[in-house]
Amino acid sequence: MDDLLFSQFIGPKGENLSLLKTFIEKILSEQKLWREDYFACDPSLYQKKDYNSEKLTIEFEKFLERSKKHFPFFHPRYAAQMAKDPSIPTILGYLTFMLSNPNNHAYEGGPVTTEMEMEVVDLLLKMVEYKTGWGHLTSGGSLANMEALWAARDYYKKGTVYFSEVSHYSWKRICKILNIDSFKEIPVDINFRMDCTKLEDELKKSEAMMVVANLGSTGTGSVDNIEEILELKKKYNFHLHIDAAYGGFFRSIILDENYNHSSQKTPLSGHTEKQLQLLSESDSITIDPHKQGSVSYGAGAVLYKNEELRDIILNTAPYTYHKLDKPNIGMFSLEGSRSGATAAACYLTYKVIPPNNSGIGELLSQTILASQKFYQMIGQSENYDNLNFPDLDINCFFRRSYGKNISEVNERTLAIYHLLSVEAENPEFILSKFVLSPEITKTVLPEYENPKNESLIALRAVFMKHWYTADDFYYLKKLIDVLELKAKL
Ligand SMILES: Cc1ncc(COP(=O)(O)O)c(C=O)c1O
Repeated sequence: MDDLLFSQFIGPKGENLSLLKTFIEKILSEQKLWREDYFACDPSLYQKKDYNSEKLTIEFEKFLERSKKHFPFFHPRYAAQMAKDPSIPTILGYLTFMLSNPNNHAYEGGPVTTEMEMEVVDLLLKMVEYKTGWGHLTSGGSLANMEALWAARDYYKKGTVYFSEVSHYSWKRICKILNIDSFKEIPVDINFRMDCTKLEDELKKSEAMMVVANLGSTGTGSVDNIEEILELKKKYNFHLHIDAAYGGFFRSIILDENYNHSSQKTPLSGHTEKQLQLLSESDSITIDPHKQGSVSYGAGAVLYKNEELRDIILNTAPYTYHKLDKPNIGMFSLEGSRSGATAAACYLTYKVIPPNNSGIGELLSQTILASQKFYQMIGQSENYDNLNFPDLDINCFFRRSYGKNISEVNERTLAIYHLLSVEAENPEFILSKFVLSPEITKTVLPEYENPKNESLIALRAVFMKHWYTADDFYYLKKLIDVLELKAKL
C-alpha cells in the first residue's frame, strides 16, 4: 500500500499539488461532458465560446492575495488550534459535488449525496460499535451537541444535565437556548477529567437526565473516565452522551480492517484505550469529521443508539420530503439545508482512508506518539513544565517557576505566548494558550502559591498533524529549540 502519511494530503510544501491538479482537471472534464450530454439536442444560449470577465480577473487576483493572509494550518509549525489540511479525497469529493450543489435536507435535494451520507453514518456507527441506531452529519460539533440535548430533553422530559467544568463552552449555551435551567458543571480532577466522586454527590441530590462525558476536551484533550461514569449510570440511570467531537476518531486506532478490536499494540495510554473501547456503551455521541476525521470544516456528526430519539424531533413540511420511501434527513435534524458536497467529501475520504487502523488510525497513532514525545521533551526541560500527561494529542505546558508562584508562571508564560502565537510577527511556531480558572489551577497545581487568586496561563500545542513523528521528530525538536531560546531572552 502507498504510504498513507504522505500520499493523501497536499503536504506542507505542496508536494502533492500536481496529483491534485490531475484529479481536478478530471472533475472539470467530467462536468463538461455531463452538461454537454444532458439533452444534447438543446442549443447553447452562449453565443461566444469564451466569455472573459475583466472584473472577475481583477477581483480574483486581489482575492488570491488576501487568501495568503490566512494562517498556515497546513504546516507543522502551526499547532495553535484544531486545524489541519483536509485530505485530498475530501477536496475531490467536495469539489465534484459543489459543482452540482446538492442539499441533503431532503432526498430530492441530493439523492446521491444523501445516500453517501447514510453510508458514512453507517460507517461511523460501525466505528463506535452501535449495533442499532442512526445519525447524520451536522455543520459541526456544537450543532450535534445541541440536537442530542434537544432530543433527550423532549424524550425524557425531566432531570438535570451534568457536564464537567472543562467541557466545550457550547454546553452552557445550549442549555440556555433549550430553556434547561437545571444543569450543573462538575469539577475536574488533576488530569482534567470529570471528578466522578463529585458527580455522584450531585446525582444523589438531583435526578439526572443526561451526563455528558468528554472524549477529548477542547483545552487539554482530556478523556473522562467513561468506565466509572458507566458504573454510575447503572446506579442512577441517565442518558450518557459522549462529546467525542475531537476524540472520537481515535477509536480507529483500536480497530482492524473489519472494524473488530485489533490485537495490535497501540501507542494509546491504558486509560485512553479503555475509554475508547467503551464508546459503544453510551446512548449518543458527537463526533466531528472536520476535526480528527481529515475532512474540511462543515462536517460534524451526531449518532443515537436509540432510534426513538429520532422520532421525537420529527418535523415535516408540505413543500418538501415527497419521497417518503427514501431517507429525508431534514425531517429529523435541527438544521435545514446542509451541504451534500460535505457528505460526498466524507464518503470519498473514508473510502480511501477508512476509520480503522489501516487508515485514520494510522494517522492518529502518529499524533499520539508525537504528543507523548513532546511531553517527554518538556519533562527534560529546565525552563518548562508539563501541565498534565496528554490523553490524546494536545499538550499544555508552562514556564517553570522555582518559587512555585502562579504570578511568576503567568508572567513568563505570557512572554513566550506573545513571541510564539498569532499575536507575534512572523513567529517560528504558532501555539495557543489555555487559561485555567483559579479553582482548576488549585486542583492541578496544589503546591503553587496563588496569593492573587489568578487564573493560570498555559501554552497549548495541538499536534493534530500526522507529520510530527517524521524525520525523527524534526519539528518537535525545532519547537523545543525555539522554546528554550525564547526562555533565555
Ligand atoms: C469537545 C468539543 N465539543 C464540541 C465542540 C464544538 O464543535 P464545533 O466547533 O464544530 O461546533 C468542540 C470544538 O472545538 C470541542 O472541542
